[in-house]
Amino acid sequence: MVQPTAVKNEMEGDVYHPSAEVVSEAYIQDYDKMYQRSMDDPEDFWADLAGELDWYKKWDQVLDDSNPPFYKWFVGGKTNIIQNALDRHVKTYRKNKLALVWEGEPGDVRTFSYFALNREVCKFANLLRSMGVEKGDIVTIYLPRIPEQVIAMLACAKIGAPHSVVYGGFSVEALAERIEDAESRVLITADGGWLRGKIVKLKDIADEAMARQPTIESCIVIKRTGQEIYMEAGRDYWYDELMGLPISNSQSETVQMDAEDPLFILYTSGTTGRPKGVVHTHGGYMVYTYSTLKCVFDIKDEDRWWCAADPGWITGHSYIVYGPLLNGATSFMYEGAPTHPYPNRWWKMIENYGITILYTAPTAIRGLMRFGDAWANRHDLSSLRLLGSVGEPINPEAWRWYYQVVGKERSPIMDTWWQTETGGFMITPLPITPLKPGSATKPFFGIDVEVVDEEGEVVPPGEEGYLVVKKPWPGMLRTIYRDPERYQQQYWEKFKTKYQTGDSARRDKDGYLWIIGRMDDVIKVSGYRLGTAEVESALVSHPAVAEAAAIGLPHDIKGNAIHAYVILRSGYEQSEKLGDELRQHVGHEIGPIAKPEQVGFVESLPKTRSGKIMRRLLRARALGEPEGDISTLED
Ligand code: WTA
Repeated sequence: MVQPTAVKNEMEGDVYHPSAEVVSEAYIQDYDKMYQRSMDDPEDFWADLAGELDWYKKWDQVLDDSNPPFYKWFVGGKTNIIQNALDRHVKTYRKNKLALVWEGEPGDVRTFSYFALNREVCKFANLLRSMGVEKGDIVTIYLPRIPEQVIAMLACAKIGAPHSVVYGGFSVEALAERIEDAESRVLITADGGWLRGKIVKLKDIADEAMARQPTIESCIVIKRTGQEIYMEAGRDYWYDELMGLPISNSQSETVQMDAEDPLFILYTSGTTGRPKGVVHTHGGYMVYTYSTLKCVFDIKDEDRWWCAADPGWITGHSYIVYGPLLNGATSFMYEGAPTHPYPNRWWKMIENYGITILYTAPTAIRGLMRFGDAWANRHDLSSLRLLGSVGEPINPEAWRWYYQVVGKERSPIMDTWWQTETGGFMITPLPITPLKPGSATKPFFGIDVEVVDEEGEVVPPGEEGYLVVKKPWPGMLRTIYRDPERYQQQYWEKFKTKYQTGDSARRDKDGYLWIIGRMDDVIKVSGYRLGTAEVESALVSHPAVAEAAAIGLPHDIKGNAIHAYVILRSGYEQSEKLGDELRQHVGHEIGPIAKPEQVGFVESLPKTRSGKIMRRLLRARALGEPEGDISTLED
């Protein structure tokens, strides 16, 4: 099943060249030469980049590919991502450099130098230790976009406890099933977070989730919004009170980890069933996020980098938290909605903080574009030197608006294609790359991609096919947590030695790659990744619903929107009210982003003879498109 996109063939003629100024400042000057080197001797190439970072002990072997697809990187090496994200900076002039500048939605501001961030991380790490968290324990973090979200992640990493961050926009069942799969004993949450002037009551949601998954023994609660909340004696503790205890001194040892030890688990939607826990490591992920950010966004000491994602998704893990800190950069982070209280909020902050690089998603661009140019034009955006896009294909109209109105035709757009599983950018321009709006351009160094047909044969230029990766890379996922078979089956079964991305793509005659969209039952809604299965299981958990199907249909701002079809149990009558109740129910179980746009009541669902719902057919019918091959359809 191929998701639609606005990127059309006719755009391919349209090329934008970076200015001489941008090119002269770029860290990488010759893409072809460096790419060739990375293909000729990948191990040597990656060893060089890894060598730019500190290690307690250097690796014995760069890549162990003796047991594919279970690849290992920097085998025998000892490090901890914190060694390079914090420890090494506080020993240099960067000690006094800003690591994080944060603005809350109500307008409150907090800043952390590398020294201050390290101190908070040390204190939090000691606190976790005092609560009995040990190397290997998985800590679940469910927070709004506040500095403590970053601090908590880093503290876990420091003591070798993999974190599992659950996006603050998720709700009860999404949180509960992630806690369950990770068997977390400690949960870090907050009383609430600010969004569009309202409080998102995270602790209430966490309470319900903990009631469903009683593995949580201790819950650390950060005070953000200050309203009255329920605190369970012996389980729930205020962070501020714990931090005031004498245990929380600011010295804390960074635990030496094997390069292949897990750094975190991040749950993401797959083709079937429940979200899968993607596992990333201290060594390879560190090298990969460090080098991709450095080469693609040309991070320099004087930059003010703003990745406007949420730390709860991979984009935030790699490019709010780890990548920028590994590069010793200054990051900006904002808590709330882009349009609160007015649609100039982002532009005002760019001006105010002198942001030099903005990295965001097409859906955000489209959402802001709809308010017209005046909001952006009212602000001085001349500090911007590079722009970035991620999460879904960017339609040329949004690309041009971003380029002209936000970047004033000075800042090239780095359209980065990658996935939770890949750890970092995979297909992306560099500042020196001539751009074609809507194309993520070319593979990053060391990344060997191909567009193939059903049999794994390379398709001719211009033809659509499966996007695959032919060589392992340091940032790749190592497995699915507690489910190595699923790892193998999901990514490596169809094309054997090639990693299957789940996306379809096209390569044009110039070698530029055009991502078309997901070929499986993953839907990208506003750039967020959801599975049809999750939405369907939330729907059938409602007493009125016997069966449900969810599909993605094109949406002007969100890219895709979820549409659901349900068969009611006997005794229930279809009504607008019930439709609305079902939408709310999905919102309560998974989160507001998963709420279907529409719930349709049907008598039956198209299925194959083996009983699988034919979502492709539902989509074709909804869009009035040809139904294609329906030979497998049950009567
Ligand atoms: C899609 C987000 C087109 C793609 C980092 C991929 C994109 C999925 C782009 C992964 C892009 C991401 N152009 N499509 N620049 N970036 N995608 O795991 O379908 O949330 O497979 O990771 O997003 O989503 P995920």
